[in-house]
Amino acid sequence: MDFPEGNNGGLEMSSNQTKILAVAGLMAGVAALPAAADDRPTAGFRAEHAEIKEHLRHLDGMVGGLDGAPEAEQRRTMAFVVKFLDEHIRSHAAWEEAHLYPVVDDRAGRQGEPFTASMRYEHGIIGRAIDGLSALAAAAPPDATAFARAADRALGVIGAHFEKEEEVFLPLLDRSMTRAEVEAVLGKPSAH
Ligand SMILES: [Fe+2]
Ligand SMILES: [Fe+2]
Repeated sequence: MDFPEGNNGGLEMSSNQTKILAVAGLMAGVAALPAAADDRPTAGFRAEHAEIKEHLRHLDGMVGGLDGAPEAEQRRTMAFVVKFLDEHIRSHAAWEEAHLYPVVDDRAGRQGEPFTASMRYEHGIIGRAIDGLSALAAAAPPDATAFARAADRALGVIGAHFEKEEEVFLPLLDRSMTRAEVEAVLGKPSAH
């Protein structure tokens, strides 16, 4: 088979292919760069949410592995999930009710008819879900399937709750406050 002059049988790339590769290389380079810093006023709080969500994804993976695991491992996993939710989600919710939600109510201009009421109520729903998981993990013998189903539901509610805070509450602050103002009332990210 003959190839046109300058073509070595398909090993040499056309100029179009070269351009495509060059663009792909540039895109890979861009992807490898660190993400642009979040300069929104609520960036510190958003970073904290992102960190908790990363842990929640790990919990989700652990719950997914419960079925068929040896009982000792199931017990360890269930205890770990409950401990994390107890220690991190409850305190996060309490901190929000004391610091974040009052600012959101203030910015929404709805004192006396709290803008955050449904989300405070949802903290209660999440708290009850954690209580339920705690009881399931402590049952003798433990029912890992029931625990996994309840954990799925709880993680779903928590995920939706986080998204509502990020997409409804935080933009209200981002639109109406500077980063310094947000940090003055919420504290630095590490303080949460
Ligand atoms: Fe919350
Ligand atoms: Fe939150």
